Amino acid sequence: MTQSEPAVEVRDLVKEFPAPGGGTIRAVDGVSFSVRRGEIFGFLGPNGAGKTTTLEVVEGLASPTSGQTFVLGSDSHKDAARVKSRIGVQLQAAAYFDHLRLDEILELFGSFYPRSVSPDVLLAKVGLSEKRRARLKELSGGQAQRFSIVAAMVNDPEVLFLDEPTTGLDPQARRHLWDVIGSINREEGKTIVLTTHYMEEAELLCDRVAIIDNGRIVALDTPLGLVRQLPAAYRIAFATGRAIDEEDLARLPGVAEVAALPNGERRYELRVRDPQATLFAFTTWARDRQVALDDVRVSPATLEEVFLSLTGHALRE
Ligand SMILES: Nc1ncnc2c1ncn2[C@@H]1O[C@H](COP(=O)(O)OP(=O)(O)OP(=O)(O)O)[C@@H](O)[C@H]1O
Ligand SMILES: [Mg+2]
Repeated sequence: MTQSEPAVEVRDLVKEFPAPGGGTIRAVDGVSFSVRRGEIFGFLGPNGAGKTTTLEVVEGLASPTSGQTFVLGSDSHKDAARVKSRIGVQLQAAAYFDHLRLDEILELFGSFYPRSVSPDVLLAKVGLSEKRRARLKELSGGQAQRFSIVAAMVNDPEVLFLDEPTTGLDPQARRHLWDVIGSINREEGKTIVLTTHYMEEAELLCDRVAIIDNGRIVALDTPLGLVRQLPAAYRIAFATGRAIDEEDLARLPGVAEVAALPNGERRYELRVRDPQATLFAFTTWARDRQVALDDVRVSPATLEEVFLSLTGHALRE
């Protein structure tokens, strides 16, 4: 075993289930990828894309129809005991015991392992020290999600698997959880593999993102790398006090498209290949035509647009 082995490696994974009316459903259709040690790796895809199924095979909880999965160099199935001792798997909150208090649940989970982290240390990681004597049903949604993350860390795992860690949370609780996940990754060096429907979560939290649709990985790169694959990967948005000639703007260098934004009056967006080249021509254009520009913003396109361009359909239907 060397440190250079990837945290997770998946080769040609196929997973089929029997279909209700006969035949089979191919939930995972030839997926290969590897996760480096120390990174936050995200699976972004719509309902039914195959995210959970892929994780369950990697974790050793489900067997593959074909293909192989490895965690820290060990086969998830042939060497399942070793893999299970080195990973943490977040369960849905409903899977825990209602009648136990938070510290008792962590104590119980810890007793399953030869070496475990104390409940106090775990609860402090996610700001739940004051709730140590609470029962799960007494926590808010965000607190329960934070608890479920440390409940997966009692064995001090090297790789942590989080399946939709922020689904159902309000934006504030979601941001809090991103901070928690980010600090577990940065401060403790843990590799984190997560799934999400939220493109913002993938963009802001993940080092690399695999976009998955219909059981296949359609793209895998850093968030910015994914966006740069688009033919016009940047947006120049602006507001202006008077009507403008959109066709005139479309002729500026590097502009692929001009869109009038639906929100607010006289807001426009230029979809461009090279923002620097276009910006210069754009400000010259505004000066020459005496167009007062307001609120000019330059930003990369979103993963939502990447998903749409790769699959032909939206992430959320
Ligand atoms: N145990 C099972 N038996 C039969 N079909 C299954 C089973 N588990 C998953 N599937 C099917 O496999 C496909 C992929 O499901 P999976 O749960 O992996 O998707 P997902 O990407 O995690 O979706 P979601 O975002 O909704 O959680 C779906 O079509 C699902 O219906
Ligand atoms: Mg799922």
